[in-house]
Amino acid sequence: MAIISILKYGEPLLLEKSHPVEKIDEEVRRLIDDMVETMYASEGVGLAAPQVGKLKRIIAVDISAGEHPEELIVLINPDIKTEEGSVITEEGCLSFPDLTLEIERPRYVKVKGLSPEGKELELEAEGLLACALSHEIDHLNGVLIINRASPLKRDLMMRKIRKKMRAGEW
Ligand code: NI
Repeated sequence: MAIISILKYGEPLLLEKSHPVEKIDEEVRRLIDDMVETMYASEGVGLAAPQVGKLKRIIAVDISAGEHPEELIVLINPDIKTEEGSVITEEGCLSFPDLTLEIERPRYVKVKGLSPEGKELELEAEGLLACALSHEIDHLNGVLIINRASPLKRDLMMRKIRKKMRAGEW
């Protein structure tokens, strides 16, 4: 296993659409292990493969940030089947270090996908887990928090990012 560096906003790859995984082979399994290790090392609650430079439809989510490893969810080719309600929360993203944005997300989602063993999974989630799944699946479609924010909040965040870039902190 290895910790991979996480791409930050500004990397064009983050805006691309990821490709479905056709076969769960050794390479995919290794990528999943590395993603999980990288997510925990970064104290994140979720990570999508494009954030580590791989345009594959794979996400990892653990809203306990590693405190309860049984809460780890890894989904291959995840797809939101149903979503209901809406909730606004302050969200972070490992590709936007130290920044947060208010984002509107569904309150409830039903998601289908494959486990790392290739088993079909269907899970229902509410609250923080629903937000995290929606956030990570967005990454697979090249959608970032900044694309979901209001124009005002987006401008504010862009100013903060440009300041960090000038200071060499991005
Ligand atoms: Ni993110």
